[in-house]
Amino acid sequence: MGETQKKTKILSIENLVIKFKLRGQVLTAIRDISLDLYKGESLAIVGESGSGKSVLVKSIMGLLDKNGYIDQGKILYNDNDLAHFSTEKDWLKIRGKEIAMVTQDPMTSLNPLKTIGKQIEEAVVLHQGLTGKDAYEKVLQLLRDVGIHDVEKRYKQYPHEFSGGMRQRIVIAIAIACNPKVLICDEPTTALDVTIQAQILQLLKNLQEKYLLTTIYITHDLGVVAKVADRIAVMYAGDIIEYGKTDEIFFNAKHPYTWALISSLPQLGVKGQELYSIKGTPPNLFKEIQGDAFAPRNPYALKIDFVERPPYFKLSETHFAKTWLLHPNAPTVEPPETLKKFFEEGREYANG
Ligand SMILES: Nc1ncnc2c1ncn2[C@@H]1O[C@H](COP(=O)(O)OP(=O)(O)OP(=O)(O)O)[C@@H](O)[C@H]1O
Ligand SMILES: [Mg+2]
Repeated sequence: MGETQKKTKILSIENLVIKFKLRGQVLTAIRDISLDLYKGESLAIVGESGSGKSVLVKSIMGLLDKNGYIDQGKILYNDNDLAHFSTEKDWLKIRGKEIAMVTQDPMTSLNPLKTIGKQIEEAVVLHQGLTGKDAYEKVLQLLRDVGIHDVEKRYKQYPHEFSGGMRQRIVIAIAIACNPKVLICDEPTTALDVTIQAQILQLLKNLQEKYLLTTIYITHDLGVVAKVADRIAVMYAGDIIEYGKTDEIFFNAKHPYTWALISSLPQLGVKGQELYSIKGTPPNLFKEIQGDAFAPRNPYALKIDFVERPPYFKLSETHFAKTWLLHPNAPTVEPPETLKKFFEEGREYANG
């Protein structure tokens, strides 16, 4: 997105709290998250397994599991507060049509008994009002747009006749066929091998431009993010602990959890040494969390980290981090040496 372009909010999450009831207990999966999504951008959400990435985006689609509920907060889209939608009828105005989702396993989104052509055509008929030859032609065009060759032949085939990567392309075609404004991709390439993964990422990038999509891209792989995102939100234990433009996160991260995530990138590995991995485990979400949720695993933790939850500290108009290390009275703490070097090289590279 160009710097001069005025940013328009398309979706706004305010103080969202999401809980689940499980065996008579309550687990808090999302702990007071606020997040804006801007028109045309590609926002990546990163974080370890269990940090709440999927729960967050499922709540935007009205797809929380039955035992889950929005306890507090708003999800503003156009003039609607999606957090207060209660009927399927409400959701059908949004789901697919305005906001569509591509998930990790394409097989669960496809009907094994119908040709892929028919499945895409259903979306085209329903959402674009086309019929007959027009609908057919549109399907062929969508197939081409998602990089499928031999489209007339492919139209008549069933999901099992496609490879994993090709199936993911079909799911993306169905999502695009509904003309959504927002496309959520929840680990769309996790199940695919690395080459195919890169191709799907490139495809999503092309489609974003062609169809003027706003995208949310979820992954636990920070390496993927650099290729797709304009902005990054880092999640830990149901909270967004740092967010900023991709460069700001990659070359100037401030939260020790973000440092840890970046340190586990293969590029930062030292030959002959084991790759960095974050020690310890995330907190128990059944219990109330005191202070900074990352404190027990944080080698840089201050006393206050165990007591009081940090607010966001502002680093730039676009970059914010929730760590007490940014408090004016905090001692100066530098990131680990390897990371410092990576940041410096990155900044040099970014400045040409
Ligand atoms: N239906 C449910 N009932 C109880 N707890 C749930 C339910 N769905 C999710 N959770 C919990 O909410 C937390 C966040 O889960 P979520 O699936 O959003 O994680 P994630 O960040 O997407 O992880 P991953 O990278 O593994 O996909 C986890 O602790 C998970 O156990
Ligand atoms: Mg998930």
